[in-house]
Amino acid sequence: MLKLSGEALAGTNGYGIDFEVALRISREIKELVDMGVEVGAVIGAGNIWRGRQGGGMDRTTADYMGMLATCINALALQNSLEDIGVETRVQSAIEMREICEPYIRRRAMRHLEKGRVVIFAAGSGNPYFSTDTAAALRAAEIEAEAILFAKKVDGVYDKDPNLYADAVKYNTLTYQQVLEQGLKAMDSPAMALCKDNNIPIIVFSLDEPGNIKRAIAGENIGTIIS
Ligand code: GTP
Repeated sequence: MLKLSGEALAGTNGYGIDFEVALRISREIKELVDMGVEVGAVIGAGNIWRGRQGGGMDRTTADYMGMLATCINALALQNSLEDIGVETRVQSAIEMREICEPYIRRRAMRHLEKGRVVIFAAGSGNPYFSTDTAAALRAAEIEAEAILFAKKVDGVYDKDPNLYADAVKYNTLTYQQVLEQGLKAMDSPAMALCKDNNIPIIVFSLDEPGNIKRAIAGENIGTIIS
């Protein structure tokens, strides 16, 4: 299960969708598919909308707006994957049948078996739950062997490496360490789901080309949480 942040699609402008970047990510995903790896993807929405942007808005409404934004990103990723010949299916946790399939677990697994990349849109369909949690939930449901958690930073640090030059990166962590120390990896509901279901998480940076393949090959290119 590949978890991409919305920002990953934004490129350097920090907002919206950079199709060059989407294509680069798609090529990396294609390498996995060509290796015979079954790939599911969950994508965030931060390049379009963040719940907390809502300010005084009702949290539930703000979160639904975020879920819709993940659908926009999912369609963009589907488009760039199909441009390079990768078969994909988008499945949404919120039904919008004119646009994509509804999420049906057994059908998603069948698509994966057939070598199609399944992009899970609209998070888990629930407000108050992040796309990290959706990635953990779908990963558990489809019996994913690992979550590849692609971020802007190249792993989990003891403090924010953008703010502190002396921040130290962890090569490996346990779920418990992340939860107890409040480390900035996945949020805690996602981490708890991975812990309960023994799903390893590989946190790495997407900025380095070839990293998705390296992560799959077991190279320690970031932080492994298990
Ligand atoms: P197989 O049964 O394995 O061949 O899978 P399939 O996805 O190709 O079969 P299906 O006939 O279900 O779908 C054909 C096309 O219609 C695919 O591109 C699906 O993504 C799309 N599709 C299927 N169900 C829906 C839906 O509810 N809404 C939308 N918008 N598209 C759908």
